[in-house]
Amino acid sequence: MSPAPPEPASGTPSPPDVLDLVVIPGDGIGPELVDSALQVLERVAALDGFTYELTTVDAGAGAYRSAGRALPEDALERLRAADGVLKGPVGLPEVRHPDGTEAGLLGGLLRLGLDTFANVRPMRLLPGVTGATRHGPGEIDYVVVRENTEGLYLSRGAGAATPHAAADQLMVTRVGTERVVRYAFDLARKRSGAAADGVRRVTCVDKSNVLRSYALFRRVFDEVAEAYPDVETEHLYADAAAHDLVARPQCFDVLVMENFLGDVLSDLGAATVGGLGMCGSLNVGADAAYAEPVHGSAPDIAGQGLANPLSQILSLALLLDHASRPSAGDRVRRAVESALSGGGIELSDRGRPVRGTGSVTAAVCEALST
Ligand code: NAI
Ligand code: MG
Repeated sequence: MSPAPPEPASGTPSPPDVLDLVVIPGDGIGPELVDSALQVLERVAALDGFTYELTTVDAGAGAYRSAGRALPEDALERLRAADGVLKGPVGLPEVRHPDGTEAGLLGGLLRLGLDTFANVRPMRLLPGVTGATRHGPGEIDYVVVRENTEGLYLSRGAGAATPHAAADQLMVTRVGTERVVRYAFDLARKRSGAAADGVRRVTCVDKSNVLRSYALFRRVFDEVAEAYPDVETEHLYADAAAHDLVARPQCFDVLVMENFLGDVLSDLGAATVGGLGMCGSLNVGADAAYAEPVHGSAPDIAGQGLANPLSQILSLALLLDHASRPSAGDRVRRAVESALSGGGIELSDRGRPVRGTGSVTAAVCEALST
């Protein structure tokens, strides 16, 4: 009798010997931020005992302006083959199509091209950071799971417009909603519940009282939820959710919502945890992932050393988790926390590092080694 076939691998897959990472520096503050995250990567790789190879892909609005396309021709294949992609923000407000929308943005190209259907945006108020509400560190710790491939943004470049009127459509599909809602429930199972009560909870945010697309989103949410009786469910309309994310953020654990709502509400959440510079994210699909800050290219502060690079560093941590290096991801998060609580990083009221971008990088690198 032939031996039994090996059991399928369970849990975390074993990490590759050499991590194959692609880097997109992006526009505006992107290159400064990515440079900072790469310094942290170098340090954490040495400590965690892994090696990596980096390939840089020039993409975004600057690339569009100089090369006539936002993303090189064969880039999607390269990104899909990588163990992970670290992307800086892109966008130059002066680079626009004749219809008035910005040219050179990568959201549509990468999210649809790689089918990264979930945009995972952790919101945590860390020690040493002052948020816009009265809450303290530890009280805000939830994740926004933003649907990333449909919703209102599927109309990008496809709406109908004359000089006098313009219309975009919001598309919600059953299959698109099912997979992102399932992702949210699976994520809740891996977490330890909401800060206020330790209850694992997924909140569905929509405007199903008004729009049929959102009513479908909610219906599918309820169907998927039946398979997760161990996770509490909650429904909120988006306007009430905006209120509650400010008034009672401690009650949230995981929230799932349509693309446009997730875009807007996660910037609101960012204000409660110290600003956009505190928020990293992971775009994840079945066979590709890329990590990027939740914010844009901040042209108002580009090249001045005023940007908070923690958004990019925390994005790196999410990428390391995804690339089967969760111990390295944890090291990065712990280093960020200890640099913040030990006073190595000081942020202004506007969320800018008081002693400059480089000082934050240095503080995190130092905290990594101690
Ligand atoms: P933004 O997110 O770039 O900036 C909003 C405000 O937050 C600005 O005052 C900026 O200085 C500040 N800010 C952002 N990141 C910061 C950081 N790390 N540290 C300190 N302050 C920070 O949004 P804005 O100005 O509306 O858009 C700028 C460009 O970014 C546009 O071209 C837009 O299309 C693009 N964009 C790109 C995104 C991406 O690549 N994923 C996402 C959002 C916008
Ligand atoms: Mg946004």
